[in-house]
Amino acid sequence: MTTSILADLKIRFSKAIAAAFGAEYADYDPAVAAAKDTKFGDYQCNAALSLTKKLKQKPQDVAAQIIANLEFADRFEPPTIAGAGFINLKLQLSYIAAHLAEMQKSDRLAIAPVSKPERVIVDFSSPNIAKEMHVGHLRSTIIGDSIARILEFQGHEVLRLNHVGDWGTQFGMLITFLREVYPDALTKADAIAIGDLVELYRQAKKRFDEDPEFKEISRSAVVELQAGGQSAKQAWQLLCEQSRREFQKIYDALNIQLEERGESFYNPFLSDVISDLKATGLLQEDQGALCVFLEGFNNKDGQPLPLIVQKSDGGYNYATTDLAALRYRIREDQATRIIYVTDIGQSAHFAQVFQVAQRADWLPESVQAIHVPFGLVMGDDGKKFKTRSGDTVPLKSLLEEAVTRAYADIDSRNPDAPAEFKKDVANAIGLGAVKYADLSQNRTSNYIFSFDKMLSLQGNTAPYMLYAYVRVQGIGRKGGIDFDRVDFDRVDSAISLTEAPEIALAKHLLQFAEAIDAVAEELFPNRLCQYLFELSQKFNQFFEQCPVLQAEEETIKISRLNLCDITAKTLKLGLGLLGIRVLERM
Ligand code: ARG
Repeated sequence: MTTSILADLKIRFSKAIAAAFGAEYADYDPAVAAAKDTKFGDYQCNAALSLTKKLKQKPQDVAAQIIANLEFADRFEPPTIAGAGFINLKLQLSYIAAHLAEMQKSDRLAIAPVSKPERVIVDFSSPNIAKEMHVGHLRSTIIGDSIARILEFQGHEVLRLNHVGDWGTQFGMLITFLREVYPDALTKADAIAIGDLVELYRQAKKRFDEDPEFKEISRSAVVELQAGGQSAKQAWQLLCEQSRREFQKIYDALNIQLEERGESFYNPFLSDVISDLKATGLLQEDQGALCVFLEGFNNKDGQPLPLIVQKSDGGYNYATTDLAALRYRIREDQATRIIYVTDIGQSAHFAQVFQVAQRADWLPESVQAIHVPFGLVMGDDGKKFKTRSGDTVPLKSLLEEAVTRAYADIDSRNPDAPAEFKKDVANAIGLGAVKYADLSQNRTSNYIFSFDKMLSLQGNTAPYMLYAYVRVQGIGRKGGIDFDRVDFDRVDSAISLTEAPEIALAKHLLQFAEAIDAVAEELFPNRLCQYLFELSQKFNQFFEQCPVLQAEEETIKISRLNLCDITAKTLKLGLGLLGIRVLERM
């Protein structure tokens, strides 16, 4: 098991720089990266350029001293210096072959878990009770799940939290309406079917807006709920349970694990947030509300904006809850990295919450609080994603449509296949397509939801990737090799790399660990999609140009079959980290 070649190389260069120029350079940025142009090598170190100025020596001389102290011989050809002091490194073919063999033997492709596992919280999905779980929540669910999977794979301890919107003034209205139309429901908790909660919400809202008396009663219902009143609490629980059941259907379909810890969980800690803020001296009163004036957030007159943490009526809000949640996650959960996956519209909210927590000394430097924003979901027409009649699209029907379309496709290609098989394939392709389409975009841009595009067998899509996997498996089957039972000690020596497409594929396979590191660090799953897409392309080039089963010699055939197998294993693991399951046939 090893770390990625790039991570390891950074350490080697750091050591070399310190050895060459003294311990004060131990933390000097070695500026190591994968080579942009592989003509000169596979990796590059540009540190000599910046060191030149500090050391007042010629860049070529600096580079030479670094190389003289660099440990490279176990993996790389002797380094070369180009132009103004760039150090180029090329992997030895024998090392590549040996590393591939390690990957093939290991169920985690020889990628070592991180040496210092962290406790990480991923706050994602987080829909709101009695409201529609919409496409924005779908994005959060898919992106958050993938980030969690990747961090888990790295060996971190990940807490997947569903910060459900289960608290707030809207519950007064809902409870009051529920009491009106389903008086029985509140006494026979399990005998009810509230039915369509979204519809219930709409009707309740209508009553609320139209009838002042209803409004008044709703207000007192909130107070009753907050005071822990038995009957109000029961009504609230009923609503939560009903929503939960609906949400769970989506999570089951998408195979998402989440721990629900909604806003209500933090109720007991809200008043402490206020009193502790008071003690820090940050809290100020503004028009009856308690707030913290922010740095770097101004209104149009240039005055600092307030972050309100207690409204003039004494109520708490979304920000208060997030402050309490942040404190809880640091103090009780002991998380050192806290990741929030929401739409980009909440960027200011999180920046403000983090700022207040920092200034209050609740967010130590050892803890990273990170907002992971994503763009809007747009329809094919470039407008906000809606049904033809202008309603929001229910997620369930959206997922169903993806599966139905995938079914129609496999049915037309393979009409005689058993229905069970077709269903299974359609499920994997349809849901995989929805996930992959989302993940393969740079998440910060708006994303165009198009069934036609995401289900296409061409391009950077799930069906394309799944098909690549099936194809490789097919070659293995035809070659009569059961890769799960290969005698690796015999096969080890059999990986030989001579043709350019073989070498290109092999090197790309070695970079899988780097792609994972990159996503774990920067939290952009599209990097992994891009890696896998390039892998399929490199595989296809290899397969077109290098006969596998028809190879002239048995040893070459085995070597190429091994490359096929490692490619398949990489695709499977990589897609798995995106939450996408592969198919053996399709
Ligand atoms: N419920 C919120 C929404 O639907 C998302 C919550 C995100 N998490 C958080 N800790 N604020 O937009």
